[in-house]
Amino acid sequence: MFLDPPSRTDNLSEGGSGSGSPGTLGMPTRTSGLRTIDDLGTIAGRRVLVRFDLNVPLADGCVVDDTRIRLALPTIEALRERGADLLILAHLGRPKDREPSLTLRPVADHLSELLGEEVILAADMTDIPDGELVMLENIRYERGETANDPRLALRLAALGDAYVNDAFGAAHRAHASTEGIVHHIRRSAAGPLFEREVETLTSILGDPARPLVAVLGGAKVTDKIGVIERFLEVADAVLIGGGMSYPFLAAQGHPVGDSLCDPAGIEVARRVLEHPAHVGRLHLPTDLILADRFSAEADVRIAGIDIEDGWMGLDIGPQTREEFAHVIAAAGTVFWNGPVGAFEMEPFAGGTRAMAAAVADTEAITVVGGGDSIAALTQFGLHEQVTHLCTGGGAALEFIEGRTLPGCFALAH
Ligand code: 3PG
Repeated sequence: MFLDPPSRTDNLSEGGSGSGSPGTLGMPTRTSGLRTIDDLGTIAGRRVLVRFDLNVPLADGCVVDDTRIRLALPTIEALRERGADLLILAHLGRPKDREPSLTLRPVADHLSELLGEEVILAADMTDIPDGELVMLENIRYERGETANDPRLALRLAALGDAYVNDAFGAAHRAHASTEGIVHHIRRSAAGPLFEREVETLTSILGDPARPLVAVLGGAKVTDKIGVIERFLEVADAVLIGGGMSYPFLAAQGHPVGDSLCDPAGIEVARRVLEHPAHVGRLHLPTDLILADRFSAEADVRIAGIDIEDGWMGLDIGPQTREEFAHVIAAAGTVFWNGPVGAFEMEPFAGGTRAMAAAVADTEAITVVGGGDSIAALTQFGLHEQVTHLCTGGGAALEFIEGRTLPGCFALAH
């Protein structure tokens, strides 16, 4: 049974997620709940609209990390093998208008390079050229996309004969190109990558090889509290590092000096620590790398978890790395989201590097999600040594929390 249909409104402008309400395990807890490209019937000679998450980082007009583009290649190949002409839909950033800096041109060029053939970029919906491989400009340039305006959804649907959504990373958005369109086109399905993301996360939460270990880092505990609580229910061990560990240490009564630590976070952490079922499963740092300022040139020292004023924690210490790596080595399944230190600065990269190495070394099923963790793995050259790179950061976290993802819900049987 599925939960209530998701809201059709856009929450982006409110800083929200655009998702529906939390539930036990919102959307498909079963992969079979999704229509797949095998359900589309004959698509030879037809134009298929395919929505990807190609929201990649750019610098100086060039793609910096092409993981999401590369992961789209098998789907492109699978649809073309079936004889379809493709019109690719994707967004880049959060443009307010047709901001030139958020054109998909670099993405289309990069995809052309990877495919060895031209991907034509269509400037807007009134001008879609014929061709086997066309990409529509940033769909968020279109008025009504993020508001999930049915008029845009209808116009989009009229551009093709079938729709495939392979953008799991945008599945938590109820937008015209991720949700609305499904109501106006006769044939629609989840793409293979989308399916795999749902399948992987579903099996982690429902039937993981045990022990299940979650490694959770990142800046703010309040952003990930739903995920922490979910893993404290289903995982055998939850390892917390990074900025989000300081509210926990503060809630235990340790001074945290100048570390990142807001009162709301301490309150949330206190609630988690007080829950009797969480005792023994939650692992916090036992030592830290401290700095006298947030800078690669700072004075740095290794210390315990009582931090003096004038110092801030910027990484987990060597003892914690060893303890966490030990837990990871004994795991049957590992889910990692969020760096455990300010890894972009070398003096504070050791903890995240140790986590990446432990995740890469273990025999366990390993799933890494979130842009920063994937960037860290890539930085350390270990991104090919994990079982599954989860392209959907925010979407994956909402899925884990048990929220209904509008893009998923729309593709359910
Ligand atoms: C992402 O990069 O996480 C997805 O593409 C979603 O982007 P958004 O948060 O701008 O909707």
